Amino acid sequence: VPLLDTDFIGRNVINHHEVESTNLTAKAEGRSGCVDGTVVTTEHQTGGRGRSGRSWSSSPGEAVQMSIVLRPGTPPATAPPITQIGAAAVAVTLEAMGFAPKVKWPNDVLISGKKVCGILTEMTCELDRIDFIVMGIGINVNVKAFPKPVDEVATSLLLEGGRSLDRRKIAAEVLNRFEPLYRGYLKGNGKTYLEICRRLSWLEGKEISFEKDGITVTATAGDIDEEGRLEVHFPGGSSEKLLSGEVHLGSV
Ligand code: BTN
Repeated sequence: VPLLDTDFIGRNVINHHEVESTNLTAKAEGRSGCVDGTVVTTEHQTGGRGRSGRSWSSSPGEAVQMSIVLRPGTPPATAPPITQIGAAAVAVTLEAMGFAPKVKWPNDVLISGKKVCGILTEMTCELDRIDFIVMGIGINVNVKAFPKPVDEVATSLLLEGGRSLDRRKIAAEVLNRFEPLYRGYLKGNGKTYLEICRRLSWLEGKEISFEKDGITVTATAGDIDEEGRLEVHFPGGSSEKLLSGEVHLGSV
């Protein structure tokens, strides 16, 4: 892959014309012992998966759909920021291309308030150590239109920028930017990813709702702390830090 400028991320690329889901293929590769940083890509997914059991679909050739196999060798508690590092890598890539992306904590990337990238991270553990993580990244690149009412919440780089873009270049650039952020995180220094997520935070100051002990609650989103947790402030004055999960804009 001539566009790649990494040491280990994407050095082993497995491209399939069509798969059910690159996350599934990457998990199978992970179980058979593929090297750290292996990337599975495809032109088309027949059963693309999203977070919270949702599906992710796009027409052949329109989206970046790739899954990275990571072997950090660390305890499971170190995993949530790794997903945010994926979002940060996508966001700075889009920024360098002239877009104005925002990161919706923990791991969506938006342009004009609409989702352009989603990330699905899955983890396989051995005792108290991560065996491997599969981080699946989907970026709407050359999607010409979304059906209603999806068009109100989703967008593509083509719709935002008015021209088609090279998916392989974007994928390579995301991997180029991901590697140093990920390495810095594992070394415990360089929380550069946090600076990116804070600078481009879409939720900060906004009213949000999320599930807490089975009920939906409303709060105001605050800062992202040193561990990548989102601070939320409740109307009564109390605060809490969310480790991961899904939050929605607006009150209940
Ligand atoms: C979400 O926002 O709900 C996450 C969407 C993740 C989609 C990507 S596309 C590549 C990888 N393979 C999948 O089946 N899902 C992820």
